[in-house]
Amino acid sequence: MTEVSRVDPEHPDPAVVRAAAEVLRRGGLVAIPTETVYGLAADALDARAVTRIFAAKGRPSHNPLIVHVADVDAARALASRWPASADALAARFWPGPLTVVVPRAPHVPDAVTAGGPTVAIRIPAHPVALAILREARIPLAAPSANPSNAISPTTARHVVDGLGGRVDMIVDGGPCTGGLESTVVHLGTAPPTLLRPGLVTLAALEDAIGPIRRSAATGEVLASPGMLAKHYAPRAVLEVTRDDRARVEALAAAGERVAWLAFEASSIPPGDVRAIVMPGDASAYAARLYAALHDADAQGATRIVVAEPPDDDAWLAVRDRLARASTR
Ligand code: TXA
Ligand code: MG
Repeated sequence: MTEVSRVDPEHPDPAVVRAAAEVLRRGGLVAIPTETVYGLAADALDARAVTRIFAAKGRPSHNPLIVHVADVDAARALASRWPASADALAARFWPGPLTVVVPRAPHVPDAVTAGGPTVAIRIPAHPVALAILREARIPLAAPSANPSNAISPTTARHVVDGLGGRVDMIVDGGPCTGGLESTVVHLGTAPPTLLRPGLVTLAALEDAIGPIRRSAATGEVLASPGMLAKHYAPRAVLEVTRDDRARVEALAAAGERVAWLAFEASSIPPGDVRAIVMPGDASAYAARLYAALHDADAQGATRIVVAEPPDDDAWLAVRDRLARASTR
């Protein structure tokens, strides 16, 4: 099993930071905490190291990776063109859960971009990720640290369960506070295009750089390389419904083991039902969602019934991930 090094998320032990940076500089794989989800990091400029990420995750090579950097200068160095909109977004949202897609510089390996003309970049807002980036002095390619198509990890335990033994080191910085993957926006289109909704809302993005193109239906995203519909899926069959109580009752009566992500569960239907009362606030809900899905799987739920969240911008990222998790 892979060694897990526990650190204080605010003041990580410099010896652990140095050890992680050393493994990364030698071309190894290190799972690191970010403010969104845990990432599986490797030297973004070392094609062999990046290839190991795809192997560890079982990820198809046509799905490009996000590159994490410590500062805006390091981000610019990965781009052949750095639009004014990128500066505006960086000033407002970095470090933070926003990824920009810009034209790639020639030295960014094809393994990172899936051979495409663009590269996705962000500065994470997590003291541990930043400390490792600064110590390593290399950009780090890091997808979520889960086997391909599984739910992203929001704790080091999730990483151990999914990838333990397949990575060189896991840095445990406690639970991720954001809980959903970063917002991804493509700046090479006019207007820019939302590729993945996330913790930075559309309203906040549009406030910073003006109109952004998106698909009409909530919970849908535009095609991006590797944005397969089925993604982030738990093992249990998941459904989202307004009639959650009735659905839970019916499934439990039919003998299913049900996990119920409710907004309100003052009385629990008879049968094998475990209710998880979810927060009514979108960002608190986001922070809890993946842990709730991991728990449901760990407890052997055969069905997950989710009370449908509100249909407004603040809930777009949550609704997007639930839509993906319910795609079979
Ligand atoms: O919050 C996050 O973004 C986490 C943490 C670890 O930073 N990372 C993450 O990475 O979610 P991953 O690989 O699971 O998701 C990357 C997403 C994919 O949907 C991919 O298709 C898209 O970003 N992406 C990456 N590079 C791209 C590019 N050049 N053009 C368009 N989409 C790209
Ligand atoms: Mg992922």
